[in-house]
Amino acid sequence: MSSVSPIRRGTVRGVAGRPELRHPVNEASPDIAHTVAALRETVSGWRAAGETVALVPTMGALHDGHMALVERALANADRTVVSIFVNPTQFSPSEDLDNYPRTEAEDLLKLAAVGVDLAFMPSAAEMYVPGATTTVTVGGLSDGLCGAMRPHFFGGVATIVTKLLLQCLPDQAIFGEKDYQQLQVIRQMARDLDIPVEIVGAPTVREADGLALSSRNAYLTPAERCIAPVMHQTLLEMADRLTGDDTASIGAIISAGWQTLEKAGFQEIEYLALCDASTLAPLSRIDAPARLLVGAWLGETRLIDNILVDVPTGD
Ligand code: PAF
Repeated sequence: MSSVSPIRRGTVRGVAGRPELRHPVNEASPDIAHTVAALRETVSGWRAAGETVALVPTMGALHDGHMALVERALANADRTVVSIFVNPTQFSPSEDLDNYPRTEAEDLLKLAAVGVDLAFMPSAAEMYVPGATTTVTVGGLSDGLCGAMRPHFFGGVATIVTKLLLQCLPDQAIFGEKDYQQLQVIRQMARDLDIPVEIVGAPTVREADGLALSSRNAYLTPAERCIAPVMHQTLLEMADRLTGDDTASIGAIISAGWQTLEKAGFQEIEYLALCDASTLAPLSRIDAPARLLVGAWLGETRLIDNILVDVPTGD
């Protein structure tokens, strides 16, 4: 059986016969590494051949938003690794880890169709060895916005992403701007810990009506799905007001946006904020690249979104 399918780019070297690395049984799957050792062995083979590597960390349930990150990785590097690991440490005890969507077979089909070289699919025991006590905390950036609502979340993300980066040591790791605070936390973490990986942010992919793609959209009822795009529309309207001739204060524009969301049917607005695009500190004037960020509940579903607010140039 060849390890190379006609739809995949190149060959995988230096891994034949390793029990941990599963070569595809058909063309519907990339190679799969279940252990860190198998991942490292494969990546070192590529490195020895002078090839560059990009990593796309995911928790699976891949949709077009994830696939845009994968496409970016395929375009940027010779080899692409996609990790699929539902990370328990970023879920609180009250959040339903067991019910997180798991669509492994479909995910592998999607990855094979675009020519991903390797899927890294470790078990929880592989990623968190018994007795492990080290965690990564990114101070400041993790505290507000989503972090204020889900205090466990960014510690879990920073710890698992640190591990993934050190296990794979790619040239680049690609993350979506949809989870903008997560992206900034990961950038800071890689910088602070001198992890020699370029963190690349990729633009949010949206439905035609503006709703940001998310695995959670599947939980929306048809009525909620009709309301959901109001989140993005509200951000756009607010950005227009903030950067146009509107003389209202930032506070007044945020209040108006908040009311629009409530009127549309968002029940619990966790935050709606204008922040410095890099530090995520709240802004009282726009004199640096800024980001509008929102997190709110629609029925049982928590949605988040964000957009860039262009700094007026005064021209
Ligand atoms: O964004 C996600 O899917 C996850 O938070 C990540 C970055 C894969 C870490 O588990």
